[in-house]
Amino acid sequence: MRMILIGPPGAGKGTQAARLVDALAIPHISSGDMLRAAVAEGTALGVEADGYMKQGLLVPDAVVIGMVIERIGKADCAHGFMLDGFPRTAPQAAALDEALSVAGVSLDAVVLIEVDDSLIVERICGRRSDPATGAIYHLRFNPPPADVVDRLVQRKDDTEAACVARLEKYHAETAPIVPFYEAKGILRRVDGVGSPDEVTGRLKSALA
Ligand code: AP5
Repeated sequence: MRMILIGPPGAGKGTQAARLVDALAIPHISSGDMLRAAVAEGTALGVEADGYMKQGLLVPDAVVIGMVIERIGKADCAHGFMLDGFPRTAPQAAALDEALSVAGVSLDAVVLIEVDDSLIVERICGRRSDPATGAIYHLRFNPPPADVVDRLVQRKDDTEAACVARLEKYHAETAPIVPFYEAKGILRRVDGVGSPDEVTGRLKSALA
């Protein structure tokens, strides 16, 4: 299956992808995770991306498109992938379409996880992740076990100011690509409000 998870920051894309990819036997490809890895490694791409990410701005298309298109060309994506965080602009969606068309394949599903803006800041500011396992927690909604609390980290862009900027970018740049996939008949909308287990159940139904 070739699919995209789309939704505002904090919608639960990363949380849900981690729960779904094993059963679907496809890799989870998060453009945000790839960019954060490049920042941590101090590569030229990472140095360029860091300034945008800290402010909650989008990294330029020219940087992101090449990175993700190269990644989905790797052998582990031959039978599918779950994209998370890409595409998030019209040029990115067009570049993905073009790359898939050249490869003679197409998308099976685009799942939009819908969460109202009013819930997003609390989700983002309470997020903590475990650098040892990659697990995502929330101080209130998904509390971490006591034995990992001391090693948890907070993302640099999980501040209220950066979150507001990310939401603005989502509505200005990413939400407008939803009709592109709706017109193709592959868009599925899933309510992202409720417990993570409830949302997982809705996603499984939407993909069945
Ligand atoms: P990216 O890493 O993609 O961030 P994002 O899209 O803003 O999404 P998040 O990772 O913040 O949220 P999520 O939906 O995965 O939610 P999560 O499951 O963690 O991008 C970061 C930055 O990189 C961008 O701002 C940009 O600068 C750059 N970038 C990346 N891709 C790019 C691209 N294609 N083009 C240009 N720039 C790009 O959940 C959030 C919290 O909520 C967690 O604490 C979780 O425990 C909790 N939670 C999850 N589900 C629930 C629930 N059902 N109820 C209550 N709490 C919940």
